Amino acid sequence: MSIGVGIIGAGIMGADHARILAGQVAGAHLVAISDADEARAKSIAAETGAKRGVNDPMGLINDPAIGAVLIASPDATHPDFAMACIKAGRHVLCEKPLAPTAAEGLKVIEAELSTGRRLVQLGYMRRFDPGYAEMRQSLQSGRFGEALAMHCVHRNATAPSYFTSAMAIVSSCGHEVDVSRWVLSAELTSVHVFKARRSKLSHFDDPMLVVFETDKGQLVDVELFLNAQYGYDVKGELVCETGTVSLMPPADTVVRSTLATSTGLAPDWRPRFADAYRIQNQAWINSIRSGSPTGSSAWDGYVATTVTDAGVKSLETGQTVQISYEKKPALYA
Ligand SMILES: NC(=O)c1ccc[n+]([C@@H]2O[C@H](COP(=O)([O-])OP(=O)(O)OC[C@H]3O[C@@H](n4cnc5c(N)ncnc54)[C@H](O)[C@@H]3O)[C@@H](O)[C@H]2O)c1
Repeated sequence: MSIGVGIIGAGIMGADHARILAGQVAGAHLVAISDADEARAKSIAAETGAKRGVNDPMGLINDPAIGAVLIASPDATHPDFAMACIKAGRHVLCEKPLAPTAAEGLKVIEAELSTGRRLVQLGYMRRFDPGYAEMRQSLQSGRFGEALAMHCVHRNATAPSYFTSAMAIVSSCGHEVDVSRWVLSAELTSVHVFKARRSKLSHFDDPMLVVFETDKGQLVDVELFLNAQYGYDVKGELVCETGTVSLMPPADTVVRSTLATSTGLAPDWRPRFADAYRIQNQAWINSIRSGSPTGSSAWDGYVATTVTDAGVKSLETGQTVQISYEKKPALYA
């Protein structure tokens, strides 16, 4: 049986997800796309073969032809839409973050707990990136001993004009929070945000260096530089006792010309993580069909927001901030 999918938000990510679900994912069909800009919803619906484009997110959530909802509207709208989906019994793939703050994220956890089943998956797609997956597998194989540290670099060409230093921590660094926990199978216990000299091409603290400690005594450092100008560039290196594992620059070809060799860089995250989005979205549909949840859970979303809340506090105070979590409910064991 094909799963009827509705998408809320038809901006950069919602449109991309619609194209992936329509063209690259089996076992699902697009029923409706809702956006605050109805003309945009209609245009993406027409392009991807969705039955209708509307400005009616609650109507979409409560449409009986829709079994699963992908939330790709702005961050602040995620908790309310996720809770409405849970109430209607819909499966959810919610773009990150689960909520702008941990307190708002906990309300989604409570709503999901009240149903007794996992309905929400978070769009931390790096768990489906073949490079990070191999990094995690290498650690789990035991070939290189214990993990000691993880180095991460997260650079964008330019950040949107509405971006702030706090958003860089919550919205961008959230990816490293989730993927480092997943690769290391560890929890982050403290965070310290260092502000570097600010680029004159940025309107917020940029770059920043974020350093986490884990409950296994490891260090995770993240350079966040969201106005790096030259392109989208994500790096990762896992440092173990007898070896390291680094992400390869994602390129199919190398150009040699005029005394130089070069590979291309993506302008933004979509081409860089195209495989990850496709694999994630297929895994989401498969998990609904099989009844076995996959990917980041709502709990992982809550944890990420707890960590980023602490990161914002460190940004404001200049101090190391210890991170504590609610007790993990059995549903997410
Ligand atoms: N996983 C990733 O790698 C990744 C990358 C970028 C963005 N994101 C997340 O995806 C989400 C969307 O980001 P984007 O870059 O597509 O933003 P965007 O601004 O391009 O698109 C957001 C869309 O939501 C619509 N919208 C606003 N309020 C709405 C509402 N109440 N109901 C329905 N639609 C509404 C807007 O009209 C717009 O079309 C954000 O939460 C963002 O953090 C995730």
